[in-house]
Amino acid sequence: MDAIEADALVLFGATGDLAFRKIFPALQALVARQGFALPVVGVARSGWSLEALRERLAASIDAHGDRTDRAAADRLSGLLRYVDGDYREAGTYRRLRQALGAARHPLHYLAVPPSLFPTVIEGIGDSGCAAGARVVVEKPFGRDLASAQALNRAAHRVFAEPSIFRIDHYLGKESVQNLLFFRFANAFLEPLWNRDHVEAIHVTMAEAFGVEGRGRFYEEVGAIRDVIQNHLLQVVAHLAMEPPVGEGAEALRDEKVKVFRGIRPLAVADVVRGQYAGYRAEDGVAPDSQVETFAALRLHLDSWRWAGVPIVLRAGKRLASTATEVQVFLKRPPQQVFGEAVPPQSNYFRFRLGPDRMAIAIGARTKRSGAGMVGEDVELLVCNERGLQMGAYERLIGDAARGDPTLFAREDGVEAAWRIVDPVLAAPAPLHPYAPGSWGPAEADALALASGGWRAPHRG
Ligand code: BG6
Repeated sequence: MDAIEADALVLFGATGDLAFRKIFPALQALVARQGFALPVVGVARSGWSLEALRERLAASIDAHGDRTDRAAADRLSGLLRYVDGDYREAGTYRRLRQALGAARHPLHYLAVPPSLFPTVIEGIGDSGCAAGARVVVEKPFGRDLASAQALNRAAHRVFAEPSIFRIDHYLGKESVQNLLFFRFANAFLEPLWNRDHVEAIHVTMAEAFGVEGRGRFYEEVGAIRDVIQNHLLQVVAHLAMEPPVGEGAEALRDEKVKVFRGIRPLAVADVVRGQYAGYRAEDGVAPDSQVETFAALRLHLDSWRWAGVPIVLRAGKRLASTATEVQVFLKRPPQQVFGEAVPPQSNYFRFRLGPDRMAIAIGARTKRSGAGMVGEDVELLVCNERGLQMGAYERLIGDAARGDPTLFAREDGVEAAWRIVDPVLAAPAPLHPYAPGSWGPAEADALALASGGWRAPHRG
């Protein structure tokens, strides 16, 4: 592991949406809780001044940060510097070099549109700002396998792989960390965690809201690129991976890559795409858009542990609720000892991953008190927390500044994940309309039929 701590943070896209919603609030939390005190050099081509950026920071903290912690917000404001300029001009990077002063190990954070990644990385390299530095690249990392490979090549011309930190904020979530922890810190799970006992794995990422002013961006991506190729496949990797052999970042990342490699590239028959009614009227969206705002898919994972186990995922905007949840259903008991009607639910593990709570629950059957042997479904809650301590971006930016790559996507992992979705990006499945507030198009039901149908995420 590269143990050198960064001595400055450079934020490309400092005036943009991601900095406003996620990065500034995360930096405030880092200042407050981890004593973060690095100079933060904002770079943008907005024609702004440092004062304007400070005002933007204050507005960001008001909207998305901790409004009560003025001291941390002020300390962060004091760390800010600003370089204005076009990303295509060498002068911008010369001014950046000056602004960096004595810093020798800057962490460059690319919070800019993906089309600008190669330009900015080249500019960093040509100006000498890459020596001793690391780079954080936001998702989406490419738009398909070929573009991800091209991007990796462009990045490697300037940075060695250990210095490239590809962000997937799901990896920084407390709940996703806990999924991994729960799997490998408990011995009771392992005997059950395989094709002999697991009936099916379902993952739902539902959002009740639409594209919310991000229409232009969303038109370029759609649900499969936006959240499935990265967030949900990472969740599947955590669920399905073998225990890492040895310690450290690479042992863990090796096992995740093996999962991606074991998943068959998707066939059109394994995918259902949907688009909510009204999407085409959103700002920045084409009136005849074919972009999916919902996707459901069935994965085939060819491994000793999982062969034949249905793994189905669905993700969508403007669905009936906002919740990301994993349900791992176990096989039913071999016989009906109590002569009950078929129990409504088999045993299961439930992982609530977000957005505002983390829960792990085990679904079981117990006898209802009374004369007869009549059962009822109960849930044993392992944990159920709201108001989690550390946000994903806080964790990830802190890790990148310290040079810990564990929670970042590696080159081979990103490419292997693209390989899974690539065929259905090139030749997409038909698009079905669905009503806002529903669970997506009815056509998606067929994908989960063999494993008991989709279950809505737990309420509350
Ligand atoms: C982002 C996607 O990566 O993740 C958004 O671009 C999505 O479309 C978001 O809404 C969901 O993140 P979270 O943490 O709220 O589940």
